[in-house]
Amino acid sequence: MKTRHFLSLFDLTTAELEKVLQRAAQLKALRRGGECYAPFPQKVLGMIFEKASSRTRISFEAGMAQLGGSAIFLAPDHTQLGRGEPIEDTARVLSGMVDIVMIRTFGHEKVERFAACSTVPVINGLTDYNHPCQLLADMQTFIEHRGSIRGKTVAWIGDGGNMCNTYLEAACQFDFQLRVAIPPGYEPNAGLLERAAGRVVLLRDPCAAAKGADLVATDVWTSMGKEEERQQRLQDFAAYQVNAQVMAHARPDALFLHCLPAHRGEEVSADVIDSPQSQVWDEAENRLHVQKALIEFLLLQNSYN
Ligand code: CP
Ligand code: NVA
Repeated sequence: MKTRHFLSLFDLTTAELEKVLQRAAQLKALRRGGECYAPFPQKVLGMIFEKASSRTRISFEAGMAQLGGSAIFLAPDHTQLGRGEPIEDTARVLSGMVDIVMIRTFGHEKVERFAACSTVPVINGLTDYNHPCQLLADMQTFIEHRGSIRGKTVAWIGDGGNMCNTYLEAACQFDFQLRVAIPPGYEPNAGLLERAAGRVVLLRDPCAAAKGADLVATDVWTSMGKEEERQQRLQDFAAYQVNAQVMAHARPDALFLHCLPAHRGEEVSADVIDSPQSQVWDEAENRLHVQKALIEFLLLQNSYN
């Protein structure tokens, strides 16, 4: 059997994704109840970070420790990867030493090339293209506050980057309607737009996207790696802030989500992100629970190989 990886939401079936989300809720309850669940002693997660991170690093490292294993943080400037060792060679070497790998990097093809040579599961911890672990946490958060997301309406407002792309993947896998409001020139991936056809509408007006929405989500205007475009982006996205005026078009019980880190006064106003509708703290915490469920799923899947 081929090694299972998690590079996008399409790497698991809808049934498998739902199983992971249900397990995440169980693991959260276990932890809240103070119960120790450590089924993976001696299992080691290798974490390659070519971009900065707070939540992803902490949630994977803490999660692995809670599961009874451990994690190794690998930064490019302190490994041979940063000196040009081929990603394929690194994958083969790591496969012989650790049990599972997480990578955060720039080009998505890098995680694909790594996974193609890895005999242990590889988890995408964010690329320029997508951020599937974050969407697992977003789905868990919506479900725990509002129940199933199937058939619901989600508004995505702002940049059509990695987070927006992953909302397109989620619209397909979890079967919800997605309305994206994006300024010209910042549209999400064309292939994903095509794949989500029938479930996605591309708009220019944030209020039109938010109309009747059950969930409103956004992300920073300037993602990691795009810092040089920051001034231009501040101008181009000025009309795309999620604020009280935009939220007023959504359902009164609509949730607000943001993967964080957030810039109050840019993509979201302080009164929205700090309002009772905002569930960004649960969303951040759920990274821990849902990634533990994902690690468990992948380690058990691959132990049958
Ligand atoms: N949301 C998220 O991935 O946060 P970090 O960049 O802090 O990992
Ligand atoms: N779109 C953001 C997400 C950060 C978690 C970025 O790529 O920087």
